[in-house]
Amino acid sequence: MKRCLVLFVAMAAALLLTVPVMAEERVEVSCPEQVVFPGKGKLGSVSFSPKIHKEMGVSCVLCHHTGPEDGKCSNCHDGKDPKVPNSQDAYHLLCKGCHKYKHIDNSCEFCHKPGT
Ligand code: HEC
Ligand code: HEC
Ligand code: HEC
Ligand code: HEC
Repeated sequence: MKRCLVLFVAMAAALLLTVPVMAEERVEVSCPEQVVFPGKGKLGSVSFSPKIHKEMGVSCVLCHHTGPEDGKCSNCHDGKDPKVPNSQDAYHLLCKGCHKYKHIDNSCEFCHKPGT
């Protein structure tokens, strides 16, 4: 019993020592007001507000599923690995998937604004 307690205290002390170090190393990133994908063709650009989504209660990691500090989706969704969807498919799966679930208009024009 005593050995258990000693071990517990030692573990707690180790944690106290490491936690502040970990906190310092954490990369702080923040959510942009507006994400804009410039139009590539007649479909036009896509623009949306992660902030609005966040305020609705969508957590950062639901979209940034490997963590927001990993940056652009295309860093990994670059079409090189057949097991990883390319970025167009990844976006459609994520965005349209939830909109469908939430019964939001999923027509192309809801996201793609022709002429922009
Ligand atoms: C509805 C989905 C969604 C939510 C929720 C969301 N984001 Fe994003 N965020 C995106 C998309 C999409 C991009 C654009 C990524 C790209 O250009 O590849 C982006 C871009 C970013 C970028 C810039 C990445 C870069 O290197 O250009 C950061 C940083 C970021 N988000 C952080 C956050 C944080 C922190 C939160 C939570 C407070 C958050 N995001 C919530 C979808 C979301
Ligand atoms: C650090 C690398 C990395 C980043 C950054 C990343 N992903 Fe992924 N993503 C993956 C990998 C690897 C998979 C496939 C394996 C899996 O499902 O985890 C995946 C799977 C997915 C899937 C599931 C596809 C399916 O088959 O159901 C979606 C949707 C997705 N990513 C969307 C996104 C979006 C949107 C972003 C940016 C906001 C993003 N990912 C950023 C690596 C990444
Ligand atoms: C977890 C669910 C969820 C995900 C993931 C999600 N959305 Fe949404 N989105 C919503 C809901 C709910 C609304 C609110 C509709 C309303 O209030 O009328 C919304 C609203 C919007 C709007 C209109 C408001 C604005 O932000 O300008 C756009 C555009 C939009 N989403 C695009 C996207 C795109 C692009 C993605 C993927 C990168 C995405 N959404 C991912 C649930 C989601
Ligand atoms: C819920 C939002 C949403 C809806 C609805 C949607 N898309 Fe997208 N789509 C996106 C996002 C986000 C991207 C990534 C933009 C980029 O990478 O430039 C994208 C990319 C694309 C691309 C590749 C980039 C380009 O501009 O050529 C094509 C093609 C595309 N979508 C076609 C469609 C079509 C066709 C429909 C309707 C059947 C549709 N999308 C509906 C969000 C949406």
